[in-house]
Amino acid sequence: MQNITVNDPESKKFSNIKTNETFRKHFLTPGPYYTNYPTHGHWKTGVNDEKWRDYAMKYFHQYPNAPLHLYLHVPFCAKICYYCICNVKITNDREKMVQFTDYVCKEIELYKSFFLELGVKPNIKEIHFGGGTPAHLPIDQIKRVVDALNSLVDISSLEEFAIEIDPRVMNKDHFYEYAKMGIDRISFGVQDFNPEVQSVINRVQPFELVQSLMDLNIRKLFTGFNFDLLYGLPLQTPERWKKTLDMVLTLSPERITLLKYAHVPDVKKHMKLIPLEHLPPTNILPDMFIDAVETFTKNGYEWFGIDNFAKPSDVMSKAKYEGKLGRNFGGYTTGNVSDMISIGPTATATLGASYFQNLYDLRDYYSSIDKSRLPIFRGHIHDGDDPLRREIIFQIICNRVIKISEIEKKYKINFHDIFEDEINSLRELESQGVLYFNNEKIVLTEMGHFLTRNVAQIFDKYNVNPLEYKITGP
Ligand SMILES: C[S@@+](CC[C@H](N)C(=O)[O-])C[C@H]1O[C@@H](n2cnc3c(N)ncnc32)[C@H](O)[C@@H]1O
Ligand code: SF4
Repeated sequence: MQNITVNDPESKKFSNIKTNETFRKHFLTPGPYYTNYPTHGHWKTGVNDEKWRDYAMKYFHQYPNAPLHLYLHVPFCAKICYYCICNVKITNDREKMVQFTDYVCKEIELYKSFFLELGVKPNIKEIHFGGGTPAHLPIDQIKRVVDALNSLVDISSLEEFAIEIDPRVMNKDHFYEYAKMGIDRISFGVQDFNPEVQSVINRVQPFELVQSLMDLNIRKLFTGFNFDLLYGLPLQTPERWKKTLDMVLTLSPERITLLKYAHVPDVKKHMKLIPLEHLPPTNILPDMFIDAVETFTKNGYEWFGIDNFAKPSDVMSKAKYEGKLGRNFGGYTTGNVSDMISIGPTATATLGASYFQNLYDLRDYYSSIDKSRLPIFRGHIHDGDDPLRREIIFQIICNRVIKISEIEKKYKINFHDIFEDEINSLRELESQGVLYFNNEKIVLTEMGHFLTRNVAQIFDKYNVNPLEYKITGP
């Protein structure tokens, strides 16, 4: 299992970036992660069942074979983690979970009828069960959902079938059941291995627990494991963080997702249970991120996106080498699939450059399905230059480059004429060593790799240009 060796702490590849003031100032500027464009906050209510059906009918007439990703959201968790920003419902009530599964199966039926009437067989290539904690659903209920999905897509033909799990609700048998159902990728919520940190975030899951769930027999059942990690959590220190990183390496997951902890106690009341004085000072966050990038890249991982790493053999790394990476609500994709159908409360769908989102409240969600209506309540139907800007933003986020000549050809535009203001902002970043121009492309430098979100935000017409804030300061 340990086919990666722990890094050499003496050699510091990114030490010049660590001390760069431009980097430190930009890195801490809040901004979107651009899993979609425009971002959620700019979507409108009233984009509903009728709008989706109308849009989808035209879309699938034009692209009946469009490869699809199916996302299914399960909101339940066994216990609240104090840092959690997700839309979760804490319950251990089996009846509630059975009721939820009934409705999810009915929602799947609504999609099945839609495609039957249209005479289109949905070309679903990937499935992802996310949450909350989908693994908290009892196995027999997960099986019901998978059986229902089997009537929409032949599960055995999928290219990927992933599930998010919380190690604390798992035993080894669950993995054998998942494998039998066709699930081939597992994503573990890990966050941090330090016991003090785990205690203050109300998520005690010893290293040995995760290790035991990843024994060789279980690993053989799946194509890959992902670990979610968080930096900026209470009681984290650079020393403790380095130990966590080394412990992660010993378990050698195929992928790692490394996110900055977003502390929003006014929005998520349970975050108030984290004492403010336990949060690490913000000035160590850039160092923690760089330490993680350094550790993972030195130990064989490809840093393929803003906050994502994968072993070279993983399909994400291959997609990156081939310049094919894509982006959707779930994060990075291999670029083979960009459209999404989504099931469950809050789930977000994409067709073309348009977005649709399901209701948040479980009662509203159930009530919509009772009326045989898809529970969609808001979204964004692409307009004007949205697709063009989205493509540029995704090029930056996925490839760390803007391919000017390719974009000019595809959209029949003169890039410099249309984006005069944006180019001025990019020139500013060029002078700071974040990127450089050549005749055909704008390319991010190594420091720019750490600032992809900042560069992308320049093309976001729905949000304020970040440079005004960043250069003049707050
Ligand atoms: C919805 S959870 C799913 C994983 C599963 N429920 C678990 O925790 O084991 C997805 C990920 O969101 C991330 N997350 C949760 N709260 C966050 C926050 N406040 N800021 C940034 N990321 C957060 C965590 O890394 C978590 O693993
Ligand atoms: S981090 Fe995961 S397990 Fe914890 S409350 Fe959030 S969704 Fe649930």
